[in-house]
Amino acid sequence: MRVLISTAIALVVLSTSAWSQEVRQPDLKGAAVFGKIAYDKFCAACHGINGVGTDKGPPFLHRVYAAGHHSDESFYLAALRGARAHHWQFGDMKPVNGVTEKQVEMIVKYVRALQLANGIR
Ligand code: HEC
Repeated sequence: MRVLISTAIALVVLSTSAWSQEVRQPDLKGAAVFGKIAYDKFCAACHGINGVGTDKGPPFLHRVYAAGHHSDESFYLAALRGARAHHWQFGDMKPVNGVTEKQVEMIVKYVRALQLANGIR
């Protein structure tokens, strides 16, 4: 009985997290390698390591952020000018301090590779 209850609790916890499957790591090449470093530094605090999201920001491993829905341009705009909350309940995103356009370009390459590796296209 006790085992059943703790299993049930574990399942509830999993289903409320943003991305409950194991993240498949893309084979990163070129700029995407630096993109991951910049992503981890500037974006992961809210969008999560591996893009799984946190309690401060949405996951990029979500079809809402697939290339056809959120263009690369929306990443520049969000990082450099901030973004109004409209898809979720996290509040607005402020412009990210200290990130450069060049870094965002590499971050986009990394996020796209991560999405593709996890079936988000
Ligand atoms: C302090 C937390 C925080 C950080 C750091 C952060 N974001 Fe966000 N981001 C958010 C929140 C909150 C949203 C709003 C989600 C919504 O409701 O639409 C968001 C939304 C976005 C969106 C979607 C914008 C749109 O047009 O819908 C993009 C793209 C994005 N962030 C990219 C980035 C990138 C790239 C970085 C790193 C350079 C970054 N974010 C760092 C919190 C953050």
